[in-house]
Amino acid sequence: MPFKPLRKAVFPVGGLGTRFLPATKAMPKEMLPIVDRPLIQYAVEEAIEAGIEQLIFVTGRGKSAIEDHFDIAFELETTMHERGKSLDILDATLLKPGSVAYVRQQEPMGLGHAVWCARHIVGDEPFAVLLADDFMLGKPGCLKQMVEAYNKVGGNLICAEEVPDDQTHRYGIITPGARDGALTEVKGLVEKPAAGTAPSNLSVIGRYILQPEVMKVLEGQEKGAGGEIQLTDAMARMIADQPFHGVTFAGTRYDCGDKAGFIEANIAVALGRDDIGPAVRDFIAKL
Ligand code: UTP
Repeated sequence: MPFKPLRKAVFPVGGLGTRFLPATKAMPKEMLPIVDRPLIQYAVEEAIEAGIEQLIFVTGRGKSAIEDHFDIAFELETTMHERGKSLDILDATLLKPGSVAYVRQQEPMGLGHAVWCARHIVGDEPFAVLLADDFMLGKPGCLKQMVEAYNKVGGNLICAEEVPDDQTHRYGIITPGARDGALTEVKGLVEKPAAGTAPSNLSVIGRYILQPEVMKVLEGQEKGAGGEIQLTDAMARMIADQPFHGVTFAGTRYDCGDKAGFIEANIAVALGRDDIGPAVRDFIAKL
């Protein structure tokens, strides 16, 4: 294979989560639960399922609950043990010393800037980026589907999803080339195009597999849409030099950065659960 295997994943969790205020005033958006697991735990489990061995969190002020969540909770575990129960939430990958790293994004200057903050830990290897607020429900998981594609075509991959015309201004949008099953060649990328100017309806969703060269591009990246350093703009500059594909996810995405999407995700997961599904279904029918 001409490209190195994927072992590292970056989780940018430095955003302010303003759309979820006041819930996110003192608590990270990524700790909002879908039923009984925080969003970030689903993203971490998806990465581990895809074979990721090193997890890099790009955090900011007020995000320490994430570090605590992925650590041993001695008192809690001892108490649960004494009660004959277990607190079995951490995968062995997370417990291996040195496999989790935290780097601080001092100012939330945009997703591109957050990814660039991880450059020394990423080094000269390809890496995945997972945005926990894009909650991906499917089997196999979204990143695993993308790794299967990566093992065939290498280069850079982004998760792609069709969105309605009136939504394109909210997303990074792909100029599509040849299509082959779930794979679409990416010929161009534009972040949040003005209404009526989008090159297609194919949007970029919060899962990426990137080659390390993107870090050098981000180094000199100017601010883009919204006055933020945009990952989309840096990726657009890689297209001429390296293979670039979109992967359509076989599954459902819930935009959990948005209040309605977050409620939808909770209902979908709750209805699928053996323990609470029937009660939730009855409740919804009554409502
Ligand atoms: P969003 O665009 O959803 O921004 O970021 P946000 O700040 O989290 O939320 P709102 O829009 O104010 O409600 C997409 C992803 O990029 C991360 C966020 O944590 C989220 O996972 N991000 C964004 C950073 O890590 N740093 C940034 O500077 C910006």
